Amino acid sequence: MCGIVGYLGRRDCADVLMDGLEKLEYRGYDSAGIAVFEGNSIRTVKTRGKLKCMAQKLAEDGKPEGFCGIGHTRWATHGEPSDINSHPHSNGRVTIVHNGIIENYAELKEFLTEKGYSFVSQTDSEIVACLLDYYYTGHDRMSWGASPEGRTDAPQSKLAPDPLRAIMETVKELHGSYALGILFKDFPDRVYATRKGSPIIVGLGQEEYFIASDIPAFLKYTKDYALLDDDEIVCMEKSGVGFYDVHGIAVKKQIHTADWDIEQAQKCGFPHYMLKEIHEQPEVVTKTLDSIVTDGVPDFSGIGLTDELLRGVKRVFVVACGTAMYAGIVGKYAVEKLARVPVTTEIASEFRYMDPIVGEDDLVILVSQSGETADTIASLELAKSRGARTLAVVNVKYSAIARGSDMFIHTLAGPEIAVASTKAYSVQIAVLYALAFRFAYARGIMPESEMKRLTAQLYGTSKAIRDVIDNKDECQFIASQLMNAEKLFFIGRGFDYALSLEGSLKLKEITYIHSEAYAAGELKHGTISLIERGVPVITVATQRHVLAKTVSNMEEVKARGATIIAVCRKGTEFAEGTVDIKLELDIGDELDDMLIPLPTVCALQLIAYYTSVQRGIDPDKPRNLAKSVTTE
Ligand code: AGP
Ligand code: GLU
Repeated sequence: MCGIVGYLGRRDCADVLMDGLEKLEYRGYDSAGIAVFEGNSIRTVKTRGKLKCMAQKLAEDGKPEGFCGIGHTRWATHGEPSDINSHPHSNGRVTIVHNGIIENYAELKEFLTEKGYSFVSQTDSEIVACLLDYYYTGHDRMSWGASPEGRTDAPQSKLAPDPLRAIMETVKELHGSYALGILFKDFPDRVYATRKGSPIIVGLGQEEYFIASDIPAFLKYTKDYALLDDDEIVCMEKSGVGFYDVHGIAVKKQIHTADWDIEQAQKCGFPHYMLKEIHEQPEVVTKTLDSIVTDGVPDFSGIGLTDELLRGVKRVFVVACGTAMYAGIVGKYAVEKLARVPVTTEIASEFRYMDPIVGEDDLVILVSQSGETADTIASLELAKSRGARTLAVVNVKYSAIARGSDMFIHTLAGPEIAVASTKAYSVQIAVLYALAFRFAYARGIMPESEMKRLTAQLYGTSKAIRDVIDNKDECQFIASQLMNAEKLFFIGRGFDYALSLEGSLKLKEITYIHSEAYAAGELKHGTISLIERGVPVITVATQRHVLAKTVSNMEEVKARGATIIAVCRKGTEFAEGTVDIKLELDIGDELDDMLIPLPTVCALQLIAYYTSVQRGIDPDKPRNLAKSVTTE
């Protein structure tokens, strides 16, 4: 959620900031603002609403003219979305933008109020500007109370105001998560930033520098970047960029070069990022497999995940959130089925607080598209503290989870802009299948020939996915039957249940229709009471060994008036009158049931996408949601 940008250089700062915020829109927000140095003063323009409201305000009020400034898109946590609660926040001398949550803001607000500071917003962020000012003006070193802007009766600190010290002292007091962009009025050609638990990336151009929550914000200007680590501070000024640790000691940072360009992060003619990213799945599954397959079999030894290590693993935990967690459930079923290793899938926000029984003989796999999900990061730290080996399956290689794990598999889905995750899920399960094959082989359960066969099949799913996409009009038709539903259910068994979970999340997050996924055999233990005439029940019925049981469950809900939509292999037969709409996946009998989630999920994604569009919703920016949940 939220986006931070900052710029120092020779271009029109307001334009660069607005362009950067636009590239970060996918992260979800409710208001926006910028602050730009105009000579020695700072002009702030901010408003509730989307960037088009900001553009209108800039047109009405006039754009700040300058070359140095910061910008922000807000995803409100403290204080309603409003003009006054929008960022930037300022106390006159210090102006900031903030991503995250200051958990101890109330006590800090009380302390600063006692010191004479006053506040205009309801946000937690505003206290940061005042706390920075408190330290910047040296009021912490006065013999008596501090005096904010305006009073002249207070003694002035003997020491020159020091932005770096102010930041160092301030962050010592902050509890929670923050990515901060900071301007000090006395330094009109500098942008400072610091972070803890929320990303900040520093773009390094030719005599121009950027800070941003994510690379797309400055990718059109430069591909070179450095990653700010937790507790580090960056100062961008005309003479260059300086990085400092929490003690103010200069640190040297590695310079990276982005391996994709801005076009990859654009819609390329598709009406929505989500549809583009669904279409990219065949290609990115193949690309990701190519990166982990050698001589026809998965090989993870290059990242330290050796066969010896796999043989020594007692238990596996897959820890993630949302779609990534549902990908983990597919991985669980595959690893347990093939490698006979116990796998527990854990919701990260539960795992981190439930004092889990995890230790040195365990492998904890953290699955994440963004690599910045706060709950998953915290789970990683917990796993490491218990001595478990940690493996990240992450789509953003410079992310906190990728860099914080012992081992890292980079999924090559490319930038996923739509809030609803699609291609990231597919490459995640492709990696988890490959891991299951290697696990089974390493433990002597699967011969190399079988590992080769299944790996070839896994590659073959790209064609199966493409066939589903080629028949997307059938998904569009199903969407037309769902668009007015008030509630609906997804049911399935085994891998089909895992798919139901993801299909249900996809649908509800972008159509706002209440949807629930249920293990088909469990429905009759209570929830079937919600079935009434006309309620759509999407039955994922691809697993042939439990098909008869699933059909029984279909009959049960049909008898109570449900409208049955069956998603199944081409040629699957049902008794007359059981199924109202059949979506047959033409994927050929040779594809192992276990690998069928890859083409099947594409159908469920398309059903959700078209239902959203037919309901007049923008599937790329669903309400209340953010692409990367960097707060708890
Ligand atoms: C998926 O469509 C959602 N946007 C959401 O559930 C997401 O999968 C979840 O927030 C986890 O994000 P991550 O993969 O970046 O960690
Ligand atoms: N907690 C801050 C606020 O509510 C920042 C939220 C965000 O990350 O956008 O304004």
